Amino acid sequence: MTFTLTPEREKQADDLLGRYPTKRAACIPLLHLCQEQNGWVSDEVIEYVANRLSLPTSQVKGVVTFYTMFHQKPVAPNVVWVCRTLMCEVRGAKVIQEHLEKKFGCHVGETSQDGKFTLLKAECLAACGQAPMLQLNGEFHENLTTDAVDKVIDAAAAETPAQAVTKAVSGHG
Ligand code: FES
Repeated sequence: MTFTLTPEREKQADDLLGRYPTKRAACIPLLHLCQEQNGWVSDEVIEYVANRLSLPTSQVKGVVTFYTMFHQKPVAPNVVWVCRTLMCEVRGAKVIQEHLEKKFGCHVGETSQDGKFTLLKAECLAACGQAPMLQLNGEFHENLTTDAVDKVIDAAAAETPAQAVTKAVSGHG
């Protein structure tokens, strides 16, 4: 199915394109805008961005596959990035990751059994002084213990609407 932005986001896209010297330079912000609406970057999104910027789809796909912040498959309403780079690693990131895998009933790269969380592994998120840390829906949570992780995740789970969960689960089916 063809992807289109909502009229409001279409205006935002126009605004974005006006801020860059070339259409090509707006590729990353436009992909962010599309992902914000669609939840992930599907082939249809890539085609839309390529058409909007007069670029080959292969070039847009190259950007999407290079940057880990673009989701190449559907994700849950909550996205958890666990940092596994050196400082977090030596301060217990593996314990945090394993705790989350057990809590979610899934491995890194997958979505929790209740469909509310997607668990991903991040490279250094530049909060090394507060290791170990994770990012949940764009917010940093630092100096983690497994108890602290439980509080953060349980609060997000309680806020996740049932409708969104259904959508995320069906997105994987
Ligand atoms: S190593 Fe984890 S934030 Fe830098």
